[in-house]
Amino acid sequence: MRRKFVAGNWKMHGTLQNNALLIDALKVSVAGLACEVAICPPYPYLAQAAALLGSSGIQLGAQNLSEFVSGAYTGEVSAPMLGEFGCRYVLVGHSERRAIYGESDSVVVAKFAAAQAGGLVPVLCVGESLEERQAGKTSEVVSRQLAAVIDRLGVSVLTKSVIAYEPVWAIGTGVTASAGQAQEVHQAIRSQVAALDPVVANGVRVLYGGSVKPQNAKELFGQPDIDGGLIGGAALVAGDFLAICRAAG
Ligand code: 13P
Repeated sequence: MRRKFVAGNWKMHGTLQNNALLIDALKVSVAGLACEVAICPPYPYLAQAAALLGSSGIQLGAQNLSEFVSGAYTGEVSAPMLGEFGCRYVLVGHSERRAIYGESDSVVVAKFAAAQAGGLVPVLCVGESLEERQAGKTSEVVSRQLAAVIDRLGVSVLTKSVIAYEPVWAIGTGVTASAGQAQEVHQAIRSQVAALDPVVANGVRVLYGGSVKPQNAKELFGQPDIDGGLIGGAALVAGDFLAICRAAG
């Protein structure tokens, strides 16, 4: 049985003061929920978040990492550094990293491997653009992004990872994939893994991301292959994020 998982991707938002208010509100209400919960604040706030989260059970994640361990890589942050600040998870290949910062599949694979080598659990983000969906290329794009990792690192690496399906056209737009549209892609992702290793496929959690709100969370999370959500905008509003966590159990 896969435990449901809701992760908040704060993106480039937050202040020391707002973070403290948000984390305090989450801490009191998340205790007792059956689902796992994580937040992914910007790098400079990880230490603050780790201190405030304490033993609340809410996990900490980062939004990105370097593919390298250390060295002359100005501006970069490595997996071991994130581990020292209490991170368990790290997003890899978010569509904003792919589109705005030009991260190719091969960079994403290198970051995925670096995360695991550093003891972190990568959350591999995949998803098609609006043009790709309209051209009927959704499954081709998503399966290519997933195959990039499997072909280079082997299917078993997925055991210690999470996959997030985030259709680019649904991110920050208010347009959510319907539960049926999302389930179709989630099922395809799981089938792709199952063709290589059914046990890995059965265990790996596949999250949905893209305009998840309290209003649509329950239906999305009720789909057989949707194991929770990666939440952007709604993760910045305590009441909304908590309602989404409750929808996941
Ligand atoms: P929104 O929930 O704001 O659409 O963002 C989704 C996302 O990109 C999470 O990583």
